[in-house]
Order: sequence, then structure tokens, then C-alpha cells
Amino acid sequence: MNFSLSSKAIASTKADCLVVGLPEKGTWPDSTNQADEALGGMIKTLQKAGDLSGKNATTLTIPLTDQPWTRLLVVGTGKDEDRSPANYRKALIAMMTALKDGPSKSVAIALADTPVTGEEAVSSEAARLSLIGRTLEDQLYTFSDFKSEKPAARKLNKAIVHASSAGKALKDAFNLGLATGRGMNLTRDLGNTPPNICHPEWLAQQAKKLAKDYDCIKTEVLDEKQMEKMGMNTILAVGKGSTQPPRLIVMEYRGGKAKDKPHVLVGKGITFDTGGISLKPGEGMDEMKYDMGGSASVFGAMKVLAETQPKINVVAVIAAAENMPDGGASRPGDIVTTLSGMTVEILNTDAEGRLVLCDALTYVKKFDPAAVIDLATLTGACIIALGNHATGLLANNDELANELLAAGERAGDRAWRLPLWDEYQSQLDSNFADMANIGGRPAGTITAACFLSRFAKDYRWAHLDIAGTAWHSGKAKGSSGRPVPLLVDYLMSHAGK
Ligand code: BES
Ligand code: MN
Ligand code: ZN
Repeated sequence: MNFSLSSKAIASTKADCLVVGLPEKGTWPDSTNQADEALGGMIKTLQKAGDLSGKNATTLTIPLTDQPWTRLLVVGTGKDEDRSPANYRKALIAMMTALKDGPSKSVAIALADTPVTGEEAVSSEAARLSLIGRTLEDQLYTFSDFKSEKPAARKLNKAIVHASSAGKALKDAFNLGLATGRGMNLTRDLGNTPPNICHPEWLAQQAKKLAKDYDCIKTEVLDEKQMEKMGMNTILAVGKGSTQPPRLIVMEYRGGKAKDKPHVLVGKGITFDTGGISLKPGEGMDEMKYDMGGSASVFGAMKVLAETQPKINVVAVIAAAENMPDGGASRPGDIVTTLSGMTVEILNTDAEGRLVLCDALTYVKKFDPAAVIDLATLTGACIIALGNHATGLLANNDELANELLAAGERAGDRAWRLPLWDEYQSQLDSNFADMANIGGRPAGTITAACFLSRFAKDYRWAHLDIAGTAWHSGKAKGSSGRPVPLLVDYLMSHAGK
């Protein structure tokens, strides 16, 4: 796909398809007026006749003759006052649905001059262009590596996006959107890859590939022997029941000043979660291939950094293991000494995410982080609490929590905070070790975060539980690419100018 910005007049942009927005109520954008004029008032006529309602996210494709465009795609953009970024994005998705399997090879998109409600950061032309860029990439995503019959090749290969200028600020915003979409698509590729291929060493190879593709990324991988030497016994305890050994993967992007403390991302990378000896029920277990969704989103964010080169230092650490139940597997009742020195009684081998994360959280102290954010498909309880719309957020620092909430809000990739009060900590009491790895049914997401918090005392830390948001179930089963947009927005808001 070829993407570009253009500030030329609509009428002088040739393309197989021209896309304009039509409000249901409110002022027409300039571009729509220009197109209507070029087409002799056709849009107004069709609106009066009732063929075009302008209702948000409706579309109508109209064949044209003797025009710079073979067809016109009119996208309803709803009422001016209702056009939130979320509704605007729905209209963009509708546009892509109409375009992606259609006959047009090239498209000129004139939707960036449609106003959106909300504060500058989400409503400006730059924000709209960024959203258009992201939606272009993320709506064209397909995953057919494992189908013997490939879907027919897509005809669409060129998108020209109209903007008020093709200056640096707008170009940067558009490119960041495109990069974010591509980052999400990497996250989705990793998540969708079947677990017989995507195992810990495969993930390590993907990290090495990222370092090969981009000079600004450095990758280092610790194998099981190195982890044993260091005392990362909880990661090892999780991986013990698998023939695929665990890996600790470290990726560094250093675009900031040497003295700038890095933002550290820690990803849960369970490439398959059977539950271990505390075996999960069989139904839907295939979806536990997405239990590396946290690490997949870290990969996606790193790719966006590599492509856009912001002035910031970021370290990514992925704790990768496969949770399987063989004769070497950890048992309920096993006691393990973590890298921190604290001991854990493993009462349920299915609470493995916190076990791989706790050693990673101890390990990252050495980077003297500005903040640490871990991402994990950690608890089914988070889906019960928040459903599939919001990521769970827990943090030991209000400022960091608020920044992440705001980033999710701006990016249309929202999180919701749950408390991390001391009162919950005692649910982790163990009779035999410093703590148990489970806290009972009440507040399962909070007690999981309580467990992690014990290893994150030395820095500003936030935990994102993405159990409900990392993938879609059912007919549209597949990785969502979340929370890459949230992460990118957060990191960019910390990048130097
Ligand atoms: N990976 C799961 C959490 C999960 C389950 C995410 C379903 C998305 C959908 C995690 O490792 C797990 O099994 N958690 C247990 C914890 C329990 C044993 C305390 C859970 O949520 O049941
Ligand atoms: Mn589990
Ligand atoms: Zn898990």
C-alpha cells in the first residue's frame, strides 16, 4: 500500500474513488462542498431525494462518468455535536469496509476536514489524520498464513489523504497513525500465530528480527541456564512442565539523551496457558494462545518507536514461557524462591502470569526506570469486572495512573482503574511461604496486582490487565492489537521535542 498526504484541491486529485463525508446535521466540510460543485450538485440532490441520510457510518458508493474519479463514496458522519472521536472512527471503519474488497485501486480520502468534538488533542486536524492513518492500516489487516487457499489479492494499493497542508506537523501525525496501525498489526500477527509455532524461543527470534530490521533496536535474550544462574526461579517454575524452555527477552530503544531514565515495558509472554497441573477446562482453551498478548503489545509499541524515532528511552522486557502439565511441571504446594529473595507458595499453577512477571519486575530495577508498565492477560476476573471494553489499570502512583488513563482516552483505547488498597494484601497470606500466588475468588484482578506490587516497590509502576481487551472471541476471533494505541500515546507524550 502506498499512503500519502495531499493539500491540492479535491477536483485536481485523480483517483479511482473519492471519499467525502456527509453530516446528518451541521455544516458541510469544504471538501464535500467542492466535490458537490464538481459533480453539479449531485450530493445535494441525492440527500434531498433521501438516498443519502448522512447518518453516522452509513456509506453509499455512486458510479461516476467523465470525472477525475470513477466513483464517489459518501460516508455519513452523523450530527456535528455527536461526532466524538469514537463515532468519527466508526465512520472511518465504515469507509474501509466499503473500500477494502471493492474495485478501486486508488482512493482519495477527504475526511480530515470533518470536525470532531472534544479537546484539541483528540479533535485537531492532526489527531484526525493520525486516526485516519491508523484506521487505514488496521482495517486492511488480514491473517491467512495458514490457509492453503489465499484470499484474492486486494485491488486497493494507493491512498491519498487530503489535508489543509502537507507540512511537517500534519505529516508526522499521519505517519504516527500509520505506524501505530502497523504496530497493532505486528501485535496481531504474533497473537494469531498458533502456539505450536509461537513458543518462547520463537518470540525471542522475533525480537532478534526486530533488532535486525531496525538499527535503533537492540535485543538480548536470556536462556534458561542464564536465568537459573541469576535465580529467576519463578519463570523457570512456570516453564518446567514444557519441552519449550522459557526465555527472558530484552529489547532496548534509546532515542533520548543518555541521562534520560527509560520507560520500561514488561510483557507477559505465556505462549500457551493450559493452567499446568491446575489444568483449565477444555472448552475454548485454544484462546490461551493469546496469553502472550501483553508481550505482543510490547513488540507492537517497539515497532512504532523504531519507525517514528521519538526522543525517548524505552526498555522492553518479555517474560516468555509455556505453561504445560508434564511430569516435570510445578505442583500446587511447591514453594519457590523468586529473584527478589521472597518465597512463593504456588497454590494454583494456573496463576502463572504473576509468577513470570514477578521475576521480570525484579530484573528491571537495574535499568533505573522512569516508570515501569507491565502488560498482561492476567485474570479472568478482569473480564468479569470490566468486560471487553476497558483494560484494567492498577498502579502504585497516581500520576502515572492518570497519565495512562488519559493516554487511553485520547487513543480510543481505554483503561479503567481499580484500587490497590493494602486491605487486599492479606488475601495472599501463606502458611508456609512469604506469600501465596492466589488470593481467592473475591477481587481476583486486584489480588493479582497486589502480588505484583510486592516486586515493584522501588519505582513508579502500573499494571495493565488486558485479559478482556487483547483479543476478540467468537466469529471474529483474533487479536485486537490493543493496547498498542494507549502505549504509543503514553510514550509519545513523554518524548522530547
Ligand atoms: N491467562 C489466564 C487469565 C485469563 C483467563 C485471561 C481467561 C483471559 C481469559 C491466567 O493465567 C489465569 O489462568 N488466571 C487465573 C487466576 C486464578 C487461578 C487465580 C484465572 O483468572 O482464573
Ligand atoms: Mn493461567
Ligand atoms: Zn495465563
